[in-house]
Amino acid sequence: MLSNLLFIAALSSATAKAPEPVVRAIEDITNLPSTIAFGSCARQIKRQPILDTIVATDPELFIYLGDNIYADTRIKFVMQLKYKWFASKPKFKRLRAAIPTVSTWDDHDYGRNDDGVDNRFKQESERQFLDFWRVPADSERRHHPGIYGHHIFEANGRRLSIILLDTRYFRDTPSPTTRKEIRRAGAIFRRKYKPNPDPSKTILGQAQWAWLKDKLEMPADLRIIVSSVQFGHSYNGLESWNNFPAEKERMLALIKDTHANGVIFLSGDVHWGEISRVKEGAGYPIYDVTSSGLTQIHDWASSNKTRVGKAVKQLHFGMMNIDWSQDDPLIALSLVDINGEALVTKEFTLSSISSD
Ligand SMILES: [Fe+2]
Repeated sequence: MLSNLLFIAALSSATAKAPEPVVRAIEDITNLPSTIAFGSCARQIKRQPILDTIVATDPELFIYLGDNIYADTRIKFVMQLKYKWFASKPKFKRLRAAIPTVSTWDDHDYGRNDDGVDNRFKQESERQFLDFWRVPADSERRHHPGIYGHHIFEANGRRLSIILLDTRYFRDTPSPTTRKEIRRAGAIFRRKYKPNPDPSKTILGQAQWAWLKDKLEMPADLRIIVSSVQFGHSYNGLESWNNFPAEKERMLALIKDTHANGVIFLSGDVHWGEISRVKEGAGYPIYDVTSSGLTQIHDWASSNKTRVGKAVKQLHFGMMNIDWSQDDPLIALSLVDINGEALVTKEFTLSSISSD
């Protein structure tokens, strides 16, 4: 109780009579972005020096991939206080004034750890999320259940599509592993859930799947799909698309069937960084860049058969650089540390992630 009172008192003094901060949002972008930074997993009570590195890198857009705060609550005023705490952080204010941001959520800003469809607090957390991230009143994101949304940018005959998924609001409860299965697997914390082959179990829900098909059918050269949880890695027992294999196959088949070339996934959640590559299913390789560690980082990473390069076990953010000036645009994906050094980089041409 005392710590709660101290928290409220500290927050009141931090936010009292503060002038309205400058905020730039994705709607401010009028050209075709070629430098996009992204990251996830940031505890609002921690110092966030890496935000200064992101500002110094000067990307045209920053995408928050989820667990942007650790609300971990189903109580309205507690979530409000935690967002206020985050908003009052000088480094976050600086980032938000300098770089347009856009966001999706994961479990800790949606509700509590591993929350899904059963979160009874989700309508309130949706309201708070949309208000905090300044999602405009006329955005489609405010006119359906869940926070999924879409942005498109165009210049010189090139189009970039950014698809923000909601992997929490509709997500069925994943199947927990049994004690026996955990014993057999050897590492308890890495075998929390097992794949459920039941095709009626969902991550996105029916309406979001129909919406996604529509968005994938829109013409674009490059399509960034933001999924808070990992998509492209091999099974590790943690929360991910691998717990719902029929949903993962459905995604790959949808990419193939809609001829949606140039899809790259961005994900967070796990507290390490890595680039994964799915070779089969979509008609071309699907990269998934996991950037999870603005403040939260493990000193270990699960094994991953689809990993490209090494895992990153220090604070980092992700970067995507696109050279649109080339006939066949060059794409560079990297994971960058607090000193601005790229620890993992993967480069390829746009035509290499195409089935045509
Ligand atoms: Fe998470």
